[in-house]
Amino acid sequence: MRPIELSPRLRAVAELVPHGTRFADVGTDHAYLAVWLLQRGVVRHALVSDLRQGPLERARATAEHYGLMDRMTFRLCDGLRQISPEEADTIAIAGMGGETILSILAAAPWTKESGCRLLLQPMSGQPELRLWLQENGYVIEQEQLCPEGRTLYTVFSVCPGEMAPLTPAEQWAGRQRREDRAPMRATYLEQLQRRACRAIEGLQSSKRTSDAPRLAELERVLAGLNQMAEEWKQWQR
Ligand SMILES: C[S@@+](CC[C@H](N)C(=O)[O-])C[C@H]1O[C@@H](n2cnc3c(N)ncnc32)[C@H](O)[C@@H]1O
Repeated sequence: MRPIELSPRLRAVAELVPHGTRFADVGTDHAYLAVWLLQRGVVRHALVSDLRQGPLERARATAEHYGLMDRMTFRLCDGLRQISPEEADTIAIAGMGGETILSILAAAPWTKESGCRLLLQPMSGQPELRLWLQENGYVIEQEQLCPEGRTLYTVFSVCPGEMAPLTPAEQWAGRQRREDRAPMRATYLEQLQRRACRAIEGLQSSKRTSDAPRLAELERVLAGLNQMAEEWKQWQR
């Protein structure tokens, strides 16, 4: 049987999974990520979970198709509520909104206490998720940018620890380091600059005084993004 192929987005998550780890995929749906890792010998066993019966059935069907039922555990549960620290030291949570991801982590403080590696791939709410991680004792060690179609996805590799406070622009774009190898970084910053400009234009036409603090916040974000884009350009020379 031909090995399973992953979309670039899931492939970016898969490539961050350490060899030989105890792996769990929360919100697995079809379980493609776990099957890819098992087939390539990255992990020997995978726990896959989902909130809903339908997606978990799809995960079982994929496992059966690839003959991997005996190397996978299936769990119907909300987030990490029925997964214990002994069962996983690398946890992927991909393809969900940042707010959902942070509420899953907030309900499972053991991921911090047991030193888990978290691979988080938020589809939205990246600023809120980055800020929550920083304020709750996690460090974003690495951010991968992955283009798929016209979208640039982000994957965070996270572990417990202290992260210096993020500026408003860093909450939007993640912290950049001179040594980062990130060919898509300039494009990502441009997209965020455009998004901030559009939001500012929208609020500038508003007459409501209650919009003023949000407008000031967005202007701080845009100024920071402009600075980061300039800094990044200089580092690439
Ligand atoms: C869009 S799919 C993503 C599937 C896969 N992880 C991926 O990235 O391609 C999101 C999945 O997360 C599941 N989900 C949503 N909230 C969840 C929660 N609190 N706990 C577990 N699974 C959840 C949904 O049922 C759905 O199957």
